[in-house]
Formats: sequence, C-alpha cells, structure tokens
Amino acid sequence: MARADSLRDHALTLFSPLPDRIALLDGRPVTEAEVVLGRMLYFDPRLADDGATACADCHDPATGGDGNRPTSTGHAWQSGPQNAPTLFNAMLNRARFWQGWDEDLPSATLRDPFRAERIATPDRMVAVLASMPGYVAAFEAAFPGEADPIRPETAARALAAYASTLLTPAPFDDWLRGEDAALSEAAREGLALFIDRGCAGCHQGVNLGGDSYHPVRVARVPGTESLPESGACFALEEADGAQYLYRAGTLRNVTLTAPYFSEGTVWSLPLAVEIMGRAQLGADLTEAEADAITAFLATLEGRPPPLMLPVLPAETGLTPRPQVQ
Ligand code: HEC
Ligand code: HEC
Repeated sequence: MARADSLRDHALTLFSPLPDRIALLDGRPVTEAEVVLGRMLYFDPRLADDGATACADCHDPATGGDGNRPTSTGHAWQSGPQNAPTLFNAMLNRARFWQGWDEDLPSATLRDPFRAERIATPDRMVAVLASMPGYVAAFEAAFPGEADPIRPETAARALAAYASTLLTPAPFDDWLRGEDAALSEAAREGLALFIDRGCAGCHQGVNLGGDSYHPVRVARVPGTESLPESGACFALEEADGAQYLYRAGTLRNVTLTAPYFSEGTVWSLPLAVEIMGRAQLGADLTEAEADAITAFLATLEGRPPPLMLPVLPAETGLTPRPQVQ
C-alpha cells in the first residue's frame, strides 16, 4: 500500500485529474445556449462549401472524437496531410495543432474551430446560417444583446463551448482521486514505467500531452523494422528545425484513436509505444514493458460524453446551394 500511495503522490506532481466540467473558456463562462448552438453547428454538413462535411466527420464523437483514418478527407474529397486528432478533452490542451499554428495568438481557444476554413469559407458560412430562422434564433439566444450575432467568431465560440463538454473521465482519474481498485497491478507497473522511463517528460499535465512541442526522434532514429513502409515523419533527415517540431498529443483515449502519429501511419498501440521508447528516449523497451505501458494507457480510456444528435433548422429559398464540383 505504501508503494501505491507514493506512486500516486509522484503521479500527482506530473498529472492532474480531469475536471468535472469546463466552466470558463477564454475567461468567459460557457453558457447552455452556446453549447446548444455549438452542437448544432458541429453536426451540420451544410456549413461546408460542398454541403457534405461536418466537424463530426473528422472529429467523430461516436468513435473516440477523432478521424479514424490516416489523414482526413475534406472539401471536394481532398485529402489533408495530417491525422485529425480527437476533440475529446481538447479544450484543455495548451498546445494546439500538430505543429502549433496559432499557438501564440491571443484567444487561441476561439481560433481553433476556425479550422472550419478547411471545409468552409467564412462569408458563405455566415450566409448559410443567416438564411435559416432556426439558426438566427439560436445565435440570438446564445449571444443576447449583440447587434450582429451571426459571425465567424461567434460560431467559433459556440463550437468551442460544445467541444468543452466533450470530457471523458477515466479509471486513471478515479485512481488519482484515491480509488485504489481503479488501476490493476499491471496498469500501476505501466504507470511507474511511464514515469521512470521518461514518457511523462513530454506527455504530462491533465491530458498527458497536448502541452508542448518536441522534435520527433529525440534520441535516435527508430529501427526501420518497426516503421510502416511509408516512413511518416520519422523519415525526415533533420530533427532540429522548427518545422520538425510536433506536438506530443494527449494520450487520453489513445486506445480509441488509431491510427497514430501526425500522419496516421501506425495502427498498433504497443508498436507506437515501442517506437516512442526508441525514438524519444533511446530505450529499447522489452515486450513486457511495452505491454505494461499499454495496460496503463488503457486506463486513460474514459467514459464517453453523452451523445445527442441535434435536429437542425430547415433551409430556405435563401440558403446558398452546395458547391458541387
Ligand atoms: C476534413 C477533416 C476535418 C474537418 C471537417 C474538421 N477538422 Fe478539425 N482538424 C482536422 C485536422 C486534420 C486537424 C489537425 C490539423 C493540424 O494540427 O495541423 C484538426 C484540428 C482541429 C482542432 C485542434 C485540436 C487540437 O487538439 O489541437 C480543433 C479544435 C478542431 N480541429 C476543430 C474542428 C471543428 C470545430 C470543426 C468543424 C467546424 C472541424 N475541426 C472540422 C480535420 C478536420
Ligand atoms: C521528447 C518528447 C517525448 C517523449 C519522451 C515521449 N513522447 Fe510520445 N510523442 C511525442 C511526440 C512529439 C508525438 C507526436 C509525434 C508525431 O505525431 O509525429 C508523440 C506521440 C505519441 C503517441 C501517439 C499518440 C497519437 O494519438 O498519435 C503515443 C502513443 C506516445 N507518444 C506514447 C509515448 C510513450 C509510451 C512514451 C514513453 C515510452 C513517449 N511517448 C515518450 C513526444 C514524446
């Protein structure tokens, strides 16, 4: 027992349990009306220029909050270069996006959902929303007293408010809060290794990641035998230029969010763990060690947020038609 307590004390200096809710975003209280509107926007493919792609297509809350494909397909079936990360717990990330665009801009919280640009152009999106009385009413309810409530900024705010409800408390949180039985012996061993071997140096904080950017392959190039053929970012010759800094993403729900890494090239979690050991720590983890760490990572799989699909406002004669190519 003494060991369990000291492991917990140590863990609490590196990680913290997930909060029950996010009350403030960018310093302002999250309101129920914002969440209701944000949920509508999140599931509405008509915001996209082609009328076919909603946030939920690439960040699917039914399947771990992520994209489930190596890279995502957006407007007019174009494929992007990067894996769509999970939005579960993402409003708690301090480092945003794989390579940190916008990181130092003010109000980053509100700018994130602006990646709607990858599917929608802001003027057209505003025209679509303003054409539907149901949306006009929802924006007025969420942003009362504003002269011009339907704007890209308010849409982004509402989306962030909805995303802030996508929290997934996990057995690890229960254990951090003192519930001994929440972690098996194997998972506790894995946690001890995760800390001792140095994984927590980059994957720390409330999200065990989502906090900082690092060069990939800090320690050495992982052996080609453990790499997928396409090579992914590990094929890069240099690792010290800023363009090779990648975010150490959250490991919450990592059991649900394959394929892994920014280019979505690795499908097996124990293999991803082994690659990390070699590339970032210069450590050849034994199979037993990789399995123990994987057992610990499984305790980060949280209870999913309740899913409620919204009924969306009907379009009118004024609604811009989808741009089909
Ligand atoms: C076509 C697929 C696609 C669609 C549609 C999409 N996203 Fe994304 N999203 C991505 C990808 C890919 C990334 C990672 C990009 C990067 O880091 O460079 C991302 C990243 C994000 C992030 C940053 C998460 C983090 O932890 O850093 C947020 C927030 C986000 N998207 C919100 C949204 C919202 C809100 C919508 C709908 C308005 C949306 N996305 C629609 C693919 C998509
Ligand atoms: C020096 C910093 C650093 C250390 C140490 C580190 N990681 Fe990572 N980790 C990263 C970065 C950066 C990425 C993203 C790399 C990419 O996507 O190209 C990552 C990605 C991951 C992923 C994939 C997550 C996803 O959703 O795609 C897993 C799993 C992971 N790390 C586990 C571990 C484990 C286990 C250890 C210890 C053996 C560890 N990491 C040590 C920086 C680090």
